[in-house]
Amino acid sequence: MSNISDIAKYMIEKPSSIREIMNLMAEFKKNPEKFPRPLIYLAGGWPQDKPPEVLRRSLLNVLNDTKKWIKSAQYSPTIGYPEIREAIVEYEKEIFGRKIDSNQVIFGLGSTDQIGAVINAVVDLNEEIIMTAPGYLNYYRQAQFELKNKVKIKYWQIIDEEGSFSPNIDNLRNLISDKTKLIIITTPGNPEGIVWDDETINKIRDLAEEKGIYILLDLAYRAFIYREKPQYLSEPLKENEIISCTLSKELRIPGWRASYLLVPADLVRAIETIEQARILAPVSLIQVVLTEIFRDKEKLTEIKKFYKDGARLYATTAKKTAELLSEIPNLRILEPQGGFYVFFDISQYEKNSKKAWQELIYKYQVALAPGIDFNNFEGWLRLSFAPVIEDQDKLWEGIRRIKEYFQRKKIK
Ligand SMILES: Cc1ncc(COP(=O)(O)O)c(C=O)c1O
Repeated sequence: MSNISDIAKYMIEKPSSIREIMNLMAEFKKNPEKFPRPLIYLAGGWPQDKPPEVLRRSLLNVLNDTKKWIKSAQYSPTIGYPEIREAIVEYEKEIFGRKIDSNQVIFGLGSTDQIGAVINAVVDLNEEIIMTAPGYLNYYRQAQFELKNKVKIKYWQIIDEEGSFSPNIDNLRNLISDKTKLIIITTPGNPEGIVWDDETINKIRDLAEEKGIYILLDLAYRAFIYREKPQYLSEPLKENEIISCTLSKELRIPGWRASYLLVPADLVRAIETIEQARILAPVSLIQVVLTEIFRDKEKLTEIKKFYKDGARLYATTAKKTAELLSEIPNLRILEPQGGFYVFFDISQYEKNSKKAWQELIYKYQVALAPGIDFNNFEGWLRLSFAPVIEDQDKLWEGIRRIKEYFQRKKIK
């Protein structure tokens, strides 16, 4: 232990809490007799429904075609084969109505890696990044890791005292200094499930442009939108904008590690050379399979249907989950508009979200995620219905246990 680096010590002190819950889950599985009943896992953001069949067919096609098979085994260029970059142009156009150029596309190994590369490409040591609070829990650790713990993270509060989503642009402006290099926005949001509207995104874009900083839009949940779709999902890339698109959620392939970035042409070379050092190249097999699909209109039609059906199922589940949680007195539920999370305020019962999280796990065997982990947003909990999307009895039983927990807990 004594010989490890300072940054390794820091990472050990601050492990990813969702990954830690996975360890706990393994403990439940290994020693079920230690616990009164099976744990209902509503913590992680991993959709458990199947990927579209067209993926399996295309994969088999590649395996059975000697030329494609060989290509799928070779190193690709660091930013991906030209074919996948061009096929992504088609995918963006057909599925989201966005017009982009293939030289703005960088194929990658999952958005976790690619966001790390973006941070390296636009932020220097001792500079600043603005993130939302609440916000996706891994950005903070990623930024600290990439910049050796020498980066200042400023939080922009996007939920007000009344528990409403209300991002205030003046507050954002006040956070910006001449050291600020990047603003990260997730829409639909994780954990709060809000689809940011065009007006707010345009104001942030204008402000970022005025100040000469980049805005990173993380669209991990764009295929799960339950309200009118905002324009920015289909607009061409702006000059100071970086868009992160992971295929983990939309294609239900988190284990394949596939994603792409849309970046202004002048950033491509920076990210390419950084990724040469970080990953060398993304996975070729996945690129070849996805190229088969993305440049074929019929296959894209299947994908479109898959997204439409999926969004309907997720929307109904989100609505019912939020309704059931609203039956618990004195909780404040943020109505989800997209994604697969329901974020709710428990502060009238318990301000310490980790305490409530622990009590729910150990006394009621329901695993949620505590607000404190989402950029220090205390007094809230996040429920993820993705792990039980196809096994919804577990979800309703989980909510029944949550109700029981709050019934027994006194209001403070
Ligand atoms: C907002 C957001 N961005 C990025 C990721 C990571 O995605 P990937 O599987 O592409 O690394 C997640 C995963 O949950 C996420 O919620």
